[in-house]
Amino acid sequence: MAAYRIVFANEKGGSGKSTTAVHTAVALAARGRRVAAIDLDTRQRTLGRYLENRAALMKRDGVDLPLPVHETFDPAAGHSIESRMDALAADADILVIDTPGRDDDHVRVAISTADTLVTPINDSFVDLDLIGQVDPDSYKIRRPSFYAELVWDARKARGKRDGATVDWVVLRNRLQHLEARNMRRVAAALAELSKRVGFRVIPGLSERVVYRELFPKGLTLLDLGAIGQDAGMAHVAARGELRELIAGLQLPDPESGRARAA
Ligand SMILES: Nc1ncnc2c1ncn2[C@@H]1O[C@H](COP(=O)(O)OP(=O)(O)O)[C@@H](O)[C@H]1O
Ligand SMILES: [Mg+2]
Repeated sequence: MAAYRIVFANEKGGSGKSTTAVHTAVALAARGRRVAAIDLDTRQRTLGRYLENRAALMKRDGVDLPLPVHETFDPAAGHSIESRMDALAADADILVIDTPGRDDDHVRVAISTADTLVTPINDSFVDLDLIGQVDPDSYKIRRPSFYAELVWDARKARGKRDGATVDWVVLRNRLQHLEARNMRRVAAALAELSKRVGFRVIPGLSERVVYRELFPKGLTLLDLGAIGQDAGMAHVAARGELRELIAGLQLPDPESGRARAA
């Protein structure tokens, strides 16, 4: 049975694709799912390097951590991305696909094979502008933007090919609870847009320095206990957020095969 595919994509860099992709992959692996991950961002290679750092730490310190099978797509190797994604999907329950923050053919191919498409946005109208344009006075949605159209096209292509639907999830990343008014406005605009364009909104990770510090060791929040670091109250709260993020994805449960949860 082919793996369920979760694609992290947003045409904007720095919105948290790689951070949320790694945390999702590791969280699912920690639950015993067979997870594979592929990094299509052949320039920045954040997800690939993150997981390489993780493998190196496991070896160096002799710790056993959940580690997804992973590779960074190498355009020079002469394979198509379809064939690499299929190869990884063959031996996994879930394939996590991280993409570069730009529009290119690879990203479009990846989106058109997604079962779930996750678009992280920073909680600001700058990021929201890619999906929909907002009226400056009323903060109401004027019209969907080009990224919504790109996803629309990819969904249509998918429907034509195998009749399947793409569950599009907009994930609000780097939430800053001190900015309650901004959070409410963005939430209202997203709610309106979600009905027009057809996505779901789920909460992502709060703004925390720890997410920027974990990369060199390849660690996620879930690992701090395992390597003997004090978890602390902030980390307990952050792990709760990650659990909610995974729940929000509404992945099919392992027994029911590939069909999406209702
Ligand atoms: N919730 C968060 N809190 C703090 N920093 C974050 C958070 N999510 C991402 N970052 C940081 O923001 C930057 C961009 O994130 P990244 O996941 O690389 O985005 P993308 O893959 O979309 O370009 C990185 O420095 C990352 O550590
Ligand atoms: Mg990235």
